[in-house]
Amino acid sequence: MALRKIRIQGDSVLTKTAKEITGMTGRLRTLAQDMLETMYEAEGVGLAAPQVGILKRIVVIDVSEERNQPVVLINPVITEADGEQTGYEGCLSVPGKSGLVTRPMHVHVKARNLDFEEIELEAEGFFARAVCHELDHLDGHLYVEKVEGELLDPSELEEEE
Ligand code: NI
Repeated sequence: MALRKIRIQGDSVLTKTAKEITGMTGRLRTLAQDMLETMYEAEGVGLAAPQVGILKRIVVIDVSEERNQPVVLINPVITEADGEQTGYEGCLSVPGKSGLVTRPMHVHVKARNLDFEEIELEAEGFFARAVCHELDHLDGHLYVEKVEGELLDPSELEEEE
């Protein structure tokens, strides 16, 4: 396993559409492991392959406090979405910033796992937010496009609390 370099807003790879994965390979397994390691090292809750410069449809997410519940989604698709939540979001590709984004409260996702088996999962609340955020990366979108109001520095948020 190895850490990968996280691409920062302004890098054109973050605006491109990632390609569907047609089958698992050793390289893709290594990529998934590296993405998890990179996400944990950066203390993020999710990472999409374009953020490490790879235009493939794979994302990793871990919204657990214990940081021990990794989720790897290959070719993920949101098949149902309902409800609404508005909350602060950040991104490892937009360091030092945070902004309010409205997302569905619940999503149903179809994807493939590391064995390239079809899986389905339900995501609620913050997990649903993370899924929506990471899937946007696969289509070349950053959350900053959806921010309501100002993009903030999180230190300003702490002062408000
Ligand atoms: Ni992000």
